Amino acid sequence: MLTGKKILVGVTGGISAYKTATLVRLFKKANAEVKVLMTQAAKQFVQPLTFATLSQNPVYTDFFNPENGEWNSHVKLGIWADLFVIAPATANTIAKIANGIADNLLTTTVLSARCKILTAPAMDLDMYSNQVTQKNFSTLKERGIMFCEAGEGFLASGLSGKGRMAEPEEIFLSAKNYLLGNQDFLGKKVLITAGPTREKIDPVRFISNYSTGKMGYALAEEFSSRGAQVVLVSGPVDIKAKNQNIKVLNVNSAQEMYETCLENFSSCDVAVMSAAVADFTPEITAETKIKKTGDEMILTLKPTKDIAAALGKLKRKNQVFIGFALETDNEMLNAQKKLKSKNFDFIVLNSLKDKGAGFGFDTNKITIVFENETKTFDLKPKNLVAKDIVDNVAEKLS
Ligand code: CTP
Repeated sequence: MLTGKKILVGVTGGISAYKTATLVRLFKKANAEVKVLMTQAAKQFVQPLTFATLSQNPVYTDFFNPENGEWNSHVKLGIWADLFVIAPATANTIAKIANGIADNLLTTTVLSARCKILTAPAMDLDMYSNQVTQKNFSTLKERGIMFCEAGEGFLASGLSGKGRMAEPEEIFLSAKNYLLGNQDFLGKKVLITAGPTREKIDPVRFISNYSTGKMGYALAEEFSSRGAQVVLVSGPVDIKAKNQNIKVLNVNSAQEMYETCLENFSSCDVAVMSAAVADFTPEITAETKIKKTGDEMILTLKPTKDIAAALGKLKRKNQVFIGFALETDNEMLNAQKKLKSKNFDFIVLNSLKDKGAGFGFDTNKITIVFENETKTFDLKPKNLVAKDIVDNVAEKLS
């Protein structure tokens, strides 16, 4: 989930430092790269070995390695990280950051960090509510430093009140939301069909079309980057899905695509039919290669299953169902007919008359057709077209 993301975790001297071990574990489990930086006071609470083991990296505590004089560069650490999480952040460290003090490796790294900083304050309730601390919080917020608010409850002092460090799961979620951006499809399952289908004539020949699957795959990447669990039913294409939240189910024929969609439709929240499904398939598939005889060859075709029409009949009220229409003439009329007959919530229309739109291009120009409204978009790369479509699905879902 966080593959490729680099997280620097700063630990300062508070009892909740023990919870930071769980936080590091959560980051590692999500495949992030983690480096840990500790203040001297933090070492009184948790051994660096704990963090070194969990993060699978050496822990930084001093400017120099006393053994060999090697320099731990705060500048390099600050540039390396995509996010700097300070948990726990004591009142003392927060005050130092607010005033630009750089008297240890952690505060020096804060000053030189180019990445976003997320702090999880932890302190006694009176220190927390103290005017100076509150002013320091405001100063940090004004500078764009993010906060995972402290919670209320039993404190190490024996008192009870606000000052407990946010739970590791909460800090993890804030970090993830920042690193991955909009997660408006978290917990949603999305079914997408993509690419062409191949209808076999004999063992060496088939009927198909020019679809490359680029639009369907771009949609799968956009949905999954926004937290969705995607099932991508794909005809034969040359593209590979990148996001690990995409489960690709490879199919060849329209019949296979139909059966695979049927198995997955009832459990999905959203279904997008972007495949260019063959409308006809040979009535008979020859078991051996058809030989030329010098005579005319007549191939009898029968209609395939209309997958979208079949799913449209099964569609529940809380499901959002989207179709595509690639037209060469009477575009709007044809799109409106398909919108109704297949029970789509909206249909994405592209016309082959538009330059740079349709099969094989990296760009597309679409019009989204609703029952009573249309939205027209400019020609743009397919990943941005996917964003426009997914934004409209999000609106429908809400
Ligand atoms: N579709 C489908 N199964 C089919 C044919 C089409 O699921 N056998 C879906 C497409 O994925 C698309 C929508 O239906 O979302 C419209 O497809 P399109 O090929 O434009 O329309 P058809 O219904 O095939 O009508 P025509 O070929 O006459 O334009």
